[in-house]
Amino acid sequence: KEKIITLAIESSCDETSAAVLVGGRTVLSNIIATQIPIHRKFGGVVPEIASRKHIVNVMPVIDEALEKASVTLKDIDQVAVTYGPGLVGALLVGVSAAKALAFTLGVPLIGVNHLEGHIFANFLSAPELKPPFMSLVVSGGHTSLVHVKGYNSFSLMGQTRDDAAGEAFDKVARVMGLPYPGGPQIDKLAQKGDPMAIDFPRALQEKGNYEFSFSGLKSAVLNYLNSMKLKGIEVNKADVAASFQHTVIEVLLSKALDAVKETGCDTLVLAGGVAANSTLESRLREVTAKNNIKFYFPDKILCTDNAAMIGCRGYYQSLAGNYSDLYLNAVPGLAL
Ligand code: KG4
Ligand code: ZN
Repeated sequence: KEKIITLAIESSCDETSAAVLVGGRTVLSNIIATQIPIHRKFGGVVPEIASRKHIVNVMPVIDEALEKASVTLKDIDQVAVTYGPGLVGALLVGVSAAKALAFTLGVPLIGVNHLEGHIFANFLSAPELKPPFMSLVVSGGHTSLVHVKGYNSFSLMGQTRDDAAGEAFDKVARVMGLPYPGGPQIDKLAQKGDPMAIDFPRALQEKGNYEFSFSGLKSAVLNYLNSMKLKGIEVNKADVAASFQHTVIEVLLSKALDAVKETGCDTLVLAGGVAANSTLESRLREVTAKNNIKFYFPDKILCTDNAAMIGCRGYYQSLAGNYSDLYLNAVPGLAL
């Protein structure tokens, strides 16, 4: 069959999503049911609540994706699903639904790595994009530099030793009294602040080191807020947000540029939820242009968790015959 139709399912964290794709890059539907309002009152994702909500949402979301794409289950040629990394209970809901569908329809099942999915979101936004390229994956759970050598060949240059970039955004926002998820809130607040107001520390700055560490920065922001409070000095929250964000962005930027140069790539690709950050995107656009590097980032809706990116990754995996069997299980700590 020339035009493979993929049904994709994503449930690794707090979004239940289903998508239908024709071939690797044409998205017929991408339905996302977010649980953000439910978790907001707890200041973060509550795993048990997330799993239960996924169970309620998964079949309606799949139905809606099929309907929006004007296809029926009989048209589906393969089922792709995120099996890690993520919350185990949340992942299990998507994996179980995908296995049941693949089994009853008699079609192949494809277990997809969530991080690879984030990178592949770029193929949906940029039809001309082809490997090789360097990718900077920045999400709530991960911060990694991945050298994409081919559609099915990746090499990890480095990742975070502790907190992910998005996690640092969320934790700093939380101590500043901003609602979950904190990334977009800091992004907005930072636009009114001075990024040079406070000099926060940058970790692991040696050349050739592609690891990240953001927990020291997070503590530095906490200490700053506490000491100002003790001294009775009112802080300018916008300045704190802007200075924190500036520090994260400059670290990401310099390591990404070094990685591009070391591998001789001519293209840098941004991926993951933090890619939605407006300043990160504009700074990367600026420095890549100055250095003659092509730069791609996904449409906003494809930056955060969604099933279309999983379907795209699943399609390219199927071209390499990389299928899963019905013993597929959730792997919460799945590496790249
Ligand atoms: O990729 P994603 O949807 O989920 C994971 O796989 O982790 O990323 C969610 C993360 C959260 O930490 C959220 O605060 C962050 O992405 N985020 C942002 C922005 N929008 C979402 N961080 C900074 N600026 C933003 N505009
Ligand atoms: Zn994600």
